[in-house]
Order: sequence, then structure tokens, then C-alpha cells
Amino acid sequence: MLSIQDIHTYYGDSYILQGVSLELTPGQVVALLGRNGVGKTTLARSIMGLTPARRGRILFKQIDITNLPAHRIARLGIGLVPQGRQIFRSLSVQEHLDVMARGQGRWSLDAIMELFPNLRARWRSLAGKLSGGEQQMLAAARALVGNPALLVMDEPTEGLAPLMIRELGRTIEVLKQTGTSILLIEQQLAFALRYADMVFIMSKGRIVHQCSPADLASDALTKSRYLGV
Ligand SMILES: Nc1ncnc2c1ncn2[C@@H]1O[C@H](COP(=O)(O)OP(=O)(O)O)[C@@H](O)[C@H]1O
Ligand SMILES: [Mg+2]
Repeated sequence: MLSIQDIHTYYGDSYILQGVSLELTPGQVVALLGRNGVGKTTLARSIMGLTPARRGRILFKQIDITNLPAHRIARLGIGLVPQGRQIFRSLSVQEHLDVMARGQGRWSLDAIMELFPNLRARWRSLAGKLSGGEQQMLAAARALVGNPALLVMDEPTEGLAPLMIRELGRTIEVLKQTGTSILLIEQQLAFALRYADMVFIMSKGRIVHQCSPADLASDALTKSRYLGV
């Protein structure tokens, strides 16, 4: 599904991703963990074509997307739920989703509203008036209208109350049941371990550890060394 092969990514002269490789098979939820500043968001940006890798390659469904423009990568079926949500406070829920709605597939607007009933109730509200949890739902809904086969979620639990985190977990379970693959970037270890099929840990622009969630749960040394827990 997604094959990241030894990519190297820079911001100007800053050398951030220093040879990252990662594999994700269809239907899998892969968690990407690591402390602040290790390059997780940069990896998401390289996948989406927002900050393309300078070396190495990224294949999605066997297609080399390394140097494709972002809109083409999105159209091939990768959706991004960006860190910090990046919604437009002065646009309504409807405007966020209408702008993006396109094509056929599993995620019609109706199906999305069934998944997020709160958004249906807030259809004409400005995004800036939504709660943090509703804004996160809106960011996820916006990614789903493109009917992605792969969803990249960058710290979706950040700033959410425990109840909303549980709600988000339910959403991930539904997505998993419908066969959507997810790259779940997280700081919340317990949340990631609950939903991931495989875990990758990043440190200083490299993948330093790969294991099952169960193995990480019982690996105190790795957790304290790379995750500070
Ligand atoms: N637009 C940018 N320009 C220059 N450096 C950046 C930019 N964005 C992030 N960085 C730097 O790249 C490194 C990795 O950042 P990031 O990918 O956001 O890490 P993470 O998501 O793991 O917290 C950090 O040192 C950060 O300061
Ligand atoms: Mg980040």
C-alpha cells in the first residue's frame, strides 16, 4: 500500500529526515511515535508532497509519488488530517465539506454525517465556533470526502478531552472496519497502542525501532529512551 524507501528530506539547509523507511500494508493501522521535533510531521509532509523528499522514494499502490504535486497525491487516495487540524474558522462545516466533495466511493457526505452526527447538527455553524473535538471531527471528515485508501492522521488526540479521545478511537475502529489504512502519528502512547497493528519509533530523523504494540507495551527501556515514559 505505502512503501517509504530511505527518504531524505530538508527544509532549506536543515537536514531533517535522514533515511526513513516504513512499510504499511492494506488495511493496516501503523503508529508512528517519537518525541517532539524528531520529524514525524515532516514525514507526513513528504508523503503528501508538501515537502518532497530530496532522495529516496515513496510508492503508493506501486506508483512512485515521491515527486508528484500534492493535489495529485491526494487524488490518488491519500488523505491528511493535519496536526493542529488546520480548519478555517470563518468557514462553516458545510463550506469545508462542499468545497472538497467529489467522486464516488464509500464516503458520501451522508456516510460521513452518519460517522460524525455532531457535524450534521452543526452543519451551518462556523468552524471557529465548534469545540476542539468537533473541529477534529471536521478535519477528519474533510480528509474522508476524498475517499482515501490511506489516511495520515498527525496527532489527532492533541488537545482533546478524554471523552473526545474515546470518540476518536471509535472513529478509527470504524475506518479500520471499512478497510482504510491509517498512519497514526501520536504522542499518546496508550491511544496508539490500542489501535495500531504495528509501531515505528522515530528519533532524530530516523526510524530507530519497529515492533508490535504488545512488544512495545512491555519494553520499558525503549519507552523511556525514545518516548520519555
Ligand atoms: N518549516 C520548517 N522550516 C525549518 N525547520 C522546520 C520546519 N518545520 C519543522 N522544522 C524542524 O524540523 C524538525 C522536525 O520537525 P517536525 O517534523 O515538526 O517534528 P515532529 O512532528 O516530530 O514534532 C524540528 O527540528 C523542527 O524545528
Ligand atoms: Mg508534529
